[in-house]
Amino acid sequence: MTNTAPKSVAWRGNVDGCLVLLDQTKLPGECVFLDCLDVPTVWEAIKQLRVRGAPAIGIAAAYGVCVAVRESMTGQWNWGQFYKTAQEAIDYLATSRPTAVNLFWALQRMERKLKSLDGSASEVAAQELLAEASAIHAEDIAMCHAIGRAGAELLTDGGVLTHCNTGGLATSEYGTALSVLFTAHDQGKKLNVYADETRPLLQGARLTAWELMQHGVPVTLITDSMAAQVMREGKVQAVIIGADRITSRGDAANKIGSYGLAILAKYHRIPFYVAAPSSTFDFKMESGADIPIEQRSAEEITEPFGKRIAPVGVPTYNPAFDVTPAELITALITEKGVIQPVTKENIAATLQ
Ligand code: MRU
Repeated sequence: MTNTAPKSVAWRGNVDGCLVLLDQTKLPGECVFLDCLDVPTVWEAIKQLRVRGAPAIGIAAAYGVCVAVRESMTGQWNWGQFYKTAQEAIDYLATSRPTAVNLFWALQRMERKLKSLDGSASEVAAQELLAEASAIHAEDIAMCHAIGRAGAELLTDGGVLTHCNTGGLATSEYGTALSVLFTAHDQGKKLNVYADETRPLLQGARLTAWELMQHGVPVTLITDSMAAQVMREGKVQAVIIGADRITSRGDAANKIGSYGLAILAKYHRIPFYVAAPSSTFDFKMESGADIPIEQRSAEEITEPFGKRIAPVGVPTYNPAFDVTPAELITALITEKGVIQPVTKENIAATLQ
């Protein structure tokens, strides 16, 4: 099936063009595109989840560095000015969200490219940075499709539970876990996807249900707290989610609620799959306990979407991610193949 979904991230024009983001906070009601003409706009878009999902954040940040230097085209910048502006953008964008390693992976690539351009004319350097960001973008498209092909082999007809949003919106296109579902569906498998609504920001209800319906994949929306009951009723033959950071031993951080699903899947003897590109692996980190977990504002729980539902002043705790230990993951699905069982050795042999 051709992919006609609106693109979450795009660069419009040449080096003096701009980053265009699909504002995911407005979906599914409205398709609003945001032109990012300065770095604070990119930072705010990542922080507020206008662009979200680990790979999409990385791509947006890479283009964000290009946004920083777009004025070098008209300003006759010398190398020192160009370097300082780009490096400051890299450092600033790295403070937007802490958990998804794709953000840091993409920014480190941009930093390496910047350093390799030492002394270049600013128009040449700007072209090279845009080429690097575009390469990160193009590689993600290829990785998403390869993940879909690798993972579809694991699925049979039946129910599949997913959490948060891992589709084209969360990536360049097609997605990670959703790419597996799209591919299996296109191959003729009869899937019934259960999409967790994903409290508190409802990425499952707003984004995953929307993407699956657009693609013609049968989807049933449930609240997060229904997963155990739906599994007990025998409606789920596999669970598949994405990840924001996977350590060298296979511990996987993903949207809050993922760890609970893994425990439920183990109890009900349901395979639990995590689909992610190699850019989501952090080989410098072994234990999932070391993954920084983003803490978000109380208002996301007490006043979701602007409507107060909790008493004023109630204390809250709002971690945006949790970590599923490798022992609970049946297989990791990557663009380089399926890793099963999930061990440090198997991960290294497949990806390094
Ligand atoms: O807070 P979000 O919406 O950026 O969280 C996204 C997720 O948890 C996704 O499951 C993950 O990034 C995988 S994206 C293909």
